[in-house]
Amino acid sequence: MRVVILGIIGCLIFVMSSIAAEKIVIAHRGASGYVAEHTIAAKAMAHAMDVDYIEQDVVMTKDDHLVVLHDHYLDRVTDVQEKFSGRAREDGRYYVIDFTLDEIRTLAVTERYSINEDGEKIAVFPDRFPLNVARFNVHTLAEEIELIQGLNKSTGRDIGIYSEAKSPAFHLSEGKDLSHAILKTFKVYGYDSKLSKAYYQTFEIEELKRVHEKVLPALDMDIKLIQLMGAGEINPYEEMVTPDGIKQLSTYADGIGPSLFMITHTEGRGETYELTDLVSLAHQNGLDVHPYTFRAESFATPKFAGSYEGLLELFLYEIGVDGVFTDFPDITVDYIKNKK
Ligand code: G3P
Ligand code: CA
Repeated sequence: MRVVILGIIGCLIFVMSSIAAEKIVIAHRGASGYVAEHTIAAKAMAHAMDVDYIEQDVVMTKDDHLVVLHDHYLDRVTDVQEKFSGRAREDGRYYVIDFTLDEIRTLAVTERYSINEDGEKIAVFPDRFPLNVARFNVHTLAEEIELIQGLNKSTGRDIGIYSEAKSPAFHLSEGKDLSHAILKTFKVYGYDSKLSKAYYQTFEIEELKRVHEKVLPALDMDIKLIQLMGAGEINPYEEMVTPDGIKQLSTYADGIGPSLFMITHTEGRGETYELTDLVSLAHQNGLDVHPYTFRAESFATPKFAGSYEGLLELFLYEIGVDGVFTDFPDITVDYIKNKK
């Protein structure tokens, strides 16, 4: 009998450690390495690549609709300048919040571009999907969730949503509670507990606390929360990435989403890196770690990793992060499947 019980315990430990070792792939703005970011085509493609989660960056329109766009501006992925000239603010930017959903639906979406000194649009990723071809539109968060849930039904998969509130403090300053609207939409579509296949993420520290303390209780729901962190020169996360700071964070968040360069700190040409204690601190406090952004192009691969596969091996299996945001979900899913 004792041998049987020990055997069962051994099996349970094996199963639990296997579950703990599962790595998740988050399609960053969809399969954005192949087709324009945050388009329905990019999301359907990511779903077909069998990722674990598909990411939505979310902002609000003038008439309170949630739309899926990386920025609260329209002027780096659409033709808003041509269609609505004169509607920019003093800073020259076209704000989503100044347009109705009907107006935004008339825009053509394209690959991300920058604007050079001559006013020309230049693709940010020149080897990706071409600029200004095909026909893509802006869609709502609800429409994207319906697509994912529809594909889940037709394929038998269970792919989740991973939504970021973009600039929630700016939205609040304009009288709009972006986080509340996102989480209310989650609830409408059945994502209402930490067991749901859904994450809420934001860079804003006070907003994540507000979501935990006020927004979720007001909606009578719960959801997994991720604190995003950036690696810029001005670093509001400095105090957070200390033993006390991470411990405090773990009282209201389920994980962190740092820039990968907060984990592997580099200097100069980036041929070597210094491993920071961020991942071990997070894991000691029960937080998952989902760094961004894993890109397969050679110019985007840090020199210290050698190749995209080298980068995945280092982060997922040597450093031990729990998942990655990637523009190239197919390569990433295959790499993880082959490791199994
Ligand atoms: O949300 C994780 C990652 O997407 C953060 O970077 O700027 O692409 O939203 P960004
Ligand atoms: Ca994001």
